Amino acid sequence: MIFLMINLIKYVRKIRIMSKYKIRKVCCIGAGYVGGPTMIVFANKCPDIEFKVVDINAARINQWNQEDLSKLPIYEPGLDKLLKKCRNKNLFFSTDLENSISQADMIFLSVNTPTKNKGIGAGKASDLKWVEASARQIAKYGEDHTIVVEKSTLPVRTAETIKKILDNSQEETTKSVKRKEFSVLSNPEFLSEGNAIKDLEYPDRVLIGGDNEKAIDALENLYINWVLREKIIRTNLWSSELSKLAANAFLAQRISSVNSISAICEETGADIKQVSKAIGTDSRIGNKFLMPSPGFGGSCFQKDILNLVYLCEFYKLNEVADYWQGVVNINNWQKSRISKLVVNKLFGNVSEKKIAILGFSFKANTNDTRNSPSIDICNDLLEEGAKLRIYDPKVGKEQIKKDLENKLKSNYEKGDWEYCKSIKESTLDSHAIIVLTEWDEFKTINLKEIFQGVKKPSWIFDTRLILNKEDALKAGFSYWSLGS
Ligand code: NAD
Ligand code: UGA
Repeated sequence: MIFLMINLIKYVRKIRIMSKYKIRKVCCIGAGYVGGPTMIVFANKCPDIEFKVVDINAARINQWNQEDLSKLPIYEPGLDKLLKKCRNKNLFFSTDLENSISQADMIFLSVNTPTKNKGIGAGKASDLKWVEASARQIAKYGEDHTIVVEKSTLPVRTAETIKKILDNSQEETTKSVKRKEFSVLSNPEFLSEGNAIKDLEYPDRVLIGGDNEKAIDALENLYINWVLREKIIRTNLWSSELSKLAANAFLAQRISSVNSISAICEETGADIKQVSKAIGTDSRIGNKFLMPSPGFGGSCFQKDILNLVYLCEFYKLNEVADYWQGVVNINNWQKSRISKLVVNKLFGNVSEKKIAILGFSFKANTNDTRNSPSIDICNDLLEEGAKLRIYDPKVGKEQIKKDLENKLKSNYEKGDWEYCKSIKESTLDSHAIIVLTEWDEFKTINLKEIFQGVKKPSWIFDTRLILNKEDALKAGFSYWSLGS
C-alpha cells in the first residue's frame, strides 16, 4: 500500500512537472525584423502551438495584419507566402500585451537594443530600457510558470537583470492565489536580413543557454520540429549571450579586413576580387563574407561591436577594447574615403552637380536602412552641395527623408535631394552614378541607354562590384570600382 502511494505521488509530481514545461501558447514581445519572421517560421513549423506577436507600436501591428501582403512592415523574400499559411490560424499579431503575456507558457523577448545615445556608456553600451520594460510587463502579467527567452542581442549577464526583475514580482504577488515562477533562457538569433526565412528554416546552429535543463528541453522541443538535434548547442547563459556578440564581431571583422585590403589594392594595382578569391580558397579561411563594400551597415554589427568594446572597457581589458574598436574605425573610414574619392574624381567639386544614388538599403533584398552606408555617403555629398537623385527598389521617400534629416549636420539646410522611382529617372542629367546597394536590378542596367541621358563626362562609381567594367567603358562612362 505504502509502495503504491509513493509511486502515485511520484507520478503526480512527474505529471505536474511535465505540464509545467509543456508549451501550448507562445508570446513574442516585439514585432520587428526578428520577432515577425521568427514567429512566422515557428508557427509554420509548430502548427499545434498558438503564437502571439505583440508590440507597443500599433501601426506596426496593423501592417502585420494587412490583407494586402505587399504592405507588410518588413520586406523579406518568401515571408508573405509563409505568413498567409498561418496568420489568424495559429499566429496572431496584437497590441494586447496583458492577455498575451498572461496566457503564455513561453515568452520570447525580441525588442530593440540600440546603442545608448545619452547617459552612462552613451555611444557604446546597449540601451536596455525596452528589455527592462518588457521584463517588468512579464513580471506583472505572467502567470504560473513562464519560460522567458532572450531573442534580442544583449550584453553578457543581462539574464541576471531579467531574473532579478522577474523574481521580485514574487513579493508583489504574495497575496495572490497564483504563484509565479520564471525560467530565463538565452536563444540568440543569427538570421541575416534578406535571407531570414532560409536562415530560420535551415539554421547553421541553434544556441540555447540556460541553467534549467527542463526549460532548455522545452525550447529544444519546439526547434526539433524542423532542426536536427545535433545542430542545437546547449551552453550556460553567459556563453550564449557572449557568443552572439562575438559572432557578429567576427563577421564584421572580416568585412573590415577585406575593405582595408581593398584600399591597398587601389594603390598597388592588385584587384580585390582576385585577392578575395585567393584568400577565400584557403579552407581554413573560407570564401564567405569577403565581399568588399562601402562599409557594413545594418542595425547590429556596429551596435554589437560597440557593446563588446564597452564590456571590455568595463572589465579594464583596454587592449581588447581597442582591437574591436579598430573594426568600427575601418568601417567609418571606408565610407568617408569613398565620399572623398567621388568628390576628387569630379574635379574636387560636386556643388550643384546631380548625382544618381542607386541603392539606399544597407544590403540587397531588404527595406532596412538602419546604419546603411548610403546614409553617410549621401550626407557627405549633400554637405558638399551635390544634388542627389536617390532610387532604391524597396526603400520609400519617407524613410530616406527620415534617415537623411537625422544625419544632416547642417541645420540651416535640409540638403538638395530628390526621391526617384526608377534607375532612369535617377540617372537622367546626372554627372555621376554611385551604386551603393547590390540589388539585382542594378546588375543588368542598360548602360548604353543610360549614357544617352547623362551629362558628359560621366562617372560610374561601383562600390559593390556588380557592374561590368568593359560595358561601362564601352558605353562611354569613366568607371571606378572599389578595390581595383
Ligand atoms: P526592431 O526595432 O525591428 O523591432 C523591435 C520591436 O520591439 C519594435 O517594433 C518595438 O516597437 C518593439 N518593442 C519595444 N519595446 C517594447 C515593449 N516594451 N513591448 C512591446 N513591444 C516593444 O528590432 P529588430 O531588428 O527586430 O531587433 C530586435 C533584437 O534582435 C535586437 O536586439 C537585435 O540586435 C537582434 N537581432 C536583430 C537581427 C536583425 O537582422 N535585425 C538579427 C539578429 C538579432
Ligand atoms: C548580420 C549577421 O549576418 C547575422 O548573422 C546576425 O544575426 C545579424 O547581423 C544581427 O545580429 O542583426 P545582417 O546585418 O542582416 O546580418 O546582414 P549581413 O548579411 O551580415 O550584412 C551586414 C552588412 O555587411 C551589410 O551592409 C552587407 O552589405 C555587408 N557585407 C556583408 C559586406 O560588406 N561584405 C560581405 O561579404 C558581407
